Amino acid sequence: MDYEKLLSDHARKIKPSGIRKFFDLASQMEDVISLGVGEPDFTTPWAIREAAIYSIEKGKTFYTANQGLLELREEICHYYDRRFGVQYDPKDHCIITVGGSEGIDLAFRALLNPGDEMIILDPGYVAYTPGVELAGAVPVVIHLTEENEFKLTPEQLKEAITPKTKAILINFPSNPTGGFMTKEDYEKIVPIIKESGIIVISDEIYAELSYEEEFCSAAAFDEIKDQVIIVSGFSKAFAMTGWRLGYLLANPVLTKAMVKIHQYVIMSAPTPAQYGALEGLKSCEHEVEKMRDSYKVRRNFLVKAFNDMGLETFKPKGAFYVFPCIRSTGLTSNEFCEKLLEDQKVACVPGTAFGEAGEGFIRVSYAYSIEELKQATQKIAVFVKKYQ
Ligand SMILES: Cc1ncc(COP(=O)(O)O)c(C=O)c1O
Repeated sequence: MDYEKLLSDHARKIKPSGIRKFFDLASQMEDVISLGVGEPDFTTPWAIREAAIYSIEKGKTFYTANQGLLELREEICHYYDRRFGVQYDPKDHCIITVGGSEGIDLAFRALLNPGDEMIILDPGYVAYTPGVELAGAVPVVIHLTEENEFKLTPEQLKEAITPKTKAILINFPSNPTGGFMTKEDYEKIVPIIKESGIIVISDEIYAELSYEEEFCSAAAFDEIKDQVIIVSGFSKAFAMTGWRLGYLLANPVLTKAMVKIHQYVIMSAPTPAQYGALEGLKSCEHEVEKMRDSYKVRRNFLVKAFNDMGLETFKPKGAFYVFPCIRSTGLTSNEFCEKLLEDQKVACVPGTAFGEAGEGFIRVSYAYSIEELKQATQKIAVFVKKYQ
């Protein structure tokens, strides 16, 4: 039987993630140092683990409300207000999701009709373009540039908006570039968003990992707040990738639509994870701060190490990735990563895994110990020397 024939057009056409493809290659080799994965090397803080264990011991093993535990939604709304000065109502504006990943999918499915255009920033997180395509819509790409520190400029935004544009997805601090938008940067694009009436899906999953400048939420501007859907979660800042817990904050109409989809597809996010996250928001600010400090030290180390070996590297202001430019080696991003893996057994991700505009760059994650980063950069320096 030819099962290929049975597949939907969507399943057939969608491309596998460029990150996974590369890591399948690396996993077949021994003693590889990987700087590829965007996953904290820290264990989830103990208070969170303990609260989740306790919830199971107490028999809290049932579905929660579709939207998630009200207590957790309340705590998330307090948190967004306390940390970023944006107010939401836990009953009408908040959904607990299975990671930021589900949040992105819900936002797409609640908004997009076939033929709608959705603006995506390139380089950008690998799930965005396939997600838009799975919703039957058309991704329209804006290429971000290093000269603009990988920020979105008002000129670029204006040019990309057409009568078919439904929404734009932004992600600052960004995976993979570490690009960052300050309040002043947002002020330049807010009038365009207001005037066009498009929705902004703002993936703020790295908000807590902002190093020198204060994080600014896209929803912090009253004139466009109702046009913004915030996607966030616990994976990165709270080191909770495997718990699969995230959340959405949006206006009541959008929230209601997204809950409808969520209730049929997921029912409710994992209950022990919700109790753990609740404790995380209540008592783990200090742990989050310690992890952030540690990422900052690693970022400083990597930016210097790459620039010292002759690869020009923009200093990212957030997230946990650096995005060195490898053009001076004469190799493409893919060639660089493949040859580096063969030659030195160090795995990085080609910039092109994040879109066309990633050509000439590699993504290096610093969610690894400083010892691993030291070893890996020594090996990368040996490799780069061969091409200078
Ligand atoms: C920008 C961005 N958004 C969303 C996600 C998905 O995170 P989660 O584990 O919460 O699904 C990731 C994970 O790498 C990410 O980098």
